[in-house]
Amino acid sequence: MTVLPLRQRSTWLALETHERSIDATNLRSLFAKDPKRGELFRVEAEGLHLDYSKQRITEETVRLLIGLANESGLAERRDQMFRGEHINVSEDRAALHVALRMPKDVSLIVDGVDVVVEVHAVLDQMTSFASRVRSGAWKGHTGKVIKNVVNIGIGGSDLGPVMAYEALRYYSRRDLTLRFVSNVDSTDLVEALRGLEADETLFIISSKTFGTLETLTNATSAREWLVEKLGDETAVAKHFVAVSTNAEKVAAFGIDTENMFVFWDWVGGRYSMESAIGLSTMIAIGPERYYELLDGFHAMDEHFRTAPFEENLPVLMGLLALWNRDFLGCASVGVMPYDQYLKRLAAYLQQLTMESNGKHVTLDGTTVDYDTGALYWGEPGTNGQHSFYQLIHQGTSIIPVDLIGFAKSLNPLGEHHDILSSNVFAQAQALAFGKTADEVRAEGTPEHVVAHRVMEGNRPTNVLLAEILTPRILGSLIALYEHSVFTQGTIWGIDSFDQWGVELGKQLAVAIIPELESESEPTLAHDSSTNELITLYRRLKRNEDTHGN
Ligand code: F6P
Repeated sequence: MTVLPLRQRSTWLALETHERSIDATNLRSLFAKDPKRGELFRVEAEGLHLDYSKQRITEETVRLLIGLANESGLAERRDQMFRGEHINVSEDRAALHVALRMPKDVSLIVDGVDVVVEVHAVLDQMTSFASRVRSGAWKGHTGKVIKNVVNIGIGGSDLGPVMAYEALRYYSRRDLTLRFVSNVDSTDLVEALRGLEADETLFIISSKTFGTLETLTNATSAREWLVEKLGDETAVAKHFVAVSTNAEKVAAFGIDTENMFVFWDWVGGRYSMESAIGLSTMIAIGPERYYELLDGFHAMDEHFRTAPFEENLPVLMGLLALWNRDFLGCASVGVMPYDQYLKRLAAYLQQLTMESNGKHVTLDGTTVDYDTGALYWGEPGTNGQHSFYQLIHQGTSIIPVDLIGFAKSLNPLGEHHDILSSNVFAQAQALAFGKTADEVRAEGTPEHVVAHRVMEGNRPTNVLLAEILTPRILGSLIALYEHSVFTQGTIWGIDSFDQWGVELGKQLAVAIIPELESESEPTLAHDSSTNELITLYRRLKRNEDTHGN
């Protein structure tokens, strides 16, 4: 189908006009006008209940947004993704993470290959390996069982594993220690290795490309640590495995490709947590729970693929995010999980959302004339409430918030959970309805303080509620955000699966490394600021007497 440039589409133009009527009202009035609003704007899929009634919308907004999705060819592009077409145009690749969670009995032929068969062959290999590590059948170099697993990776090869490990810690084997090293800052590795016995430690080197400087630097130092501790180069064979798409580089690093778990170029780094990149997750929670996680992903994929847009949770969430970004001008989104186990969710979603949709040109290279991806950030509630929520309530920028809660705690204790959950609902209420000057006065507030205590409200939230955090729910939750990102990227007409913007910094750093390391004074040919900074760094580095101060 032919798709017009975004700002020429009839539904976009209609939304621009419609936005004026939304601007002229507020959530208080909208709720007063329709007492059933809370029932109207609700949707459920795969155990995730979304209340979006506190978004600044009317039924007309939703109708127009769905019209925009249709006019933008969302269904067609979604189907292209599920068929394995090369929708990642700038890298000429499929974006087929949905195949990673397809059940064994499904078949998906891409370029003459049944990718589901390949996926399950690796899942079987992971299952066998994880089971051996968990049972103690996999022995280290000195014959000891593995007690520590250290995942070394960065970006998508780290954030998914860490987030999932933390999120599913309740289900994990407590006698196994899992640590994650990502930063090339040596402190990250040194602190992660502190207290670990080398002969009980397994390293998983996770890197799609196996060419990422941070990961290879950490992996090399980890190998040196192991060899030094065990005094034998051959020990590497029992203590290092790799997860990658690049067998050649894995072999060149010195890891036997027998101990390599593959994935494919059609899995983007930030879409890889349920590929072999999830090996540490599987070791932590066991294969059975890991398959539940995959089931959760797949269930949401199926919902996204088949549900009408009006009832389609990821489509609606994506459309609301786009509405807030492009029509209400919100540049930032808060994600606040009210569950301590989800403490790394916001960090994970930052890569998913911002590396995917932080783009300035459309698929054909035309510069966009509208805003794309918003800034995502967040912390678990209720901690954020005692820190940055002030700005969300009374600051001058409107920040839509996703509040994520659960009806049951995995660790019930007295009143804790109801106290926690009351905050989910209370925050959504406070943000939506605020407090007027008359209400503040009615509380007996002295007149000179009234203005300070007024809260204008009209600040949008999504409330996502589920019964309890399980591997399955986690899978559905992540797939929900993935497809919401896809929905937005499709309407914006951008490539949500490349990340060229991260390359320049990497190239420049590679040129600077020898200038920092050089024994002799290097000739610096950068801009004057960079030259000065490098010179200062070299001078400070030579100051031996300040070490440790
Ligand atoms: O620099 C960004 C990036 O390419 C991410 O997209 C990716 O997740 C990360 O680096 C790590 O890449 P790799 O898994 O190839 O080491």
